[in-house]
Amino acid sequence: MILRWLLALVVLAFLAIQFVPVDRSNPPVKAAFAAPPEVQPILERSCYDCHSNQTRWPWYSRVAPVSWMVTRHVREGREHLNFSEWEAGAEAGEVAKEAWKEVEAGKMPLPSYLLSHPSARLSQADRDALKNWAAKAAAESAPEGSPAGTARTEKAEHKEREEHHGEGHHE
Ligand code: HEC
Repeated sequence: MILRWLLALVVLAFLAIQFVPVDRSNPPVKAAFAAPPEVQPILERSCYDCHSNQTRWPWYSRVAPVSWMVTRHVREGREHLNFSEWEAGAEAGEVAKEAWKEVEAGKMPLPSYLLSHPSARLSQADRDALKNWAAKAAAESAPEGSPAGTARTEKAEHKEREEHHGEGHHE
């Protein structure tokens, strides 16, 4: 008898928590991050569900209490790094280094996520691509001896500006 009451209570509680509102919204993409072409698809496949406004919400994100965990991961993931709300002028190279650091340490993608998303697992080729991306970013931000890359050092830019002044090029 007691067992039957307990079971009824559990079922009622389960039904009741379904009414707790959860935020499963995908806000508009404000400024899309653009990684090199060999890296972008990897990020979209393995990271965008939590680090962008383009989350593909799985069916179980509609069932409490699992929905609470999923929405928390997405909310916190977006807070830390959002590829859909890229700030103009932010350092893309820093993202490359951070991303590889997390992946190398086995922290990202979140292991619990990989259980239900086997296709988000990173292959050796994926890992190599992320590693190269980070290595390039590190080389470009190195204070000296860095080859002319896309990210120029402040010094180089300063020098260039001075040269322009010398030639009388003003805008
Ligand atoms: C299931 C959701 C989820 C996925 C998928 C995911 N992340 Fe995260 N990520 C989080 C959460 C939550 C945090 C913040 C809390 C933490 O650091 O654990 C985070 C934090 C980060 C941070 C910031 C770490 C810090 O210390 O500030 C980086 C960088 C990051 N993730 C990179 C990635 C990359 C790269 C991928 C894809 C290869 C990825 N994440 C996939 C949920 C996710």
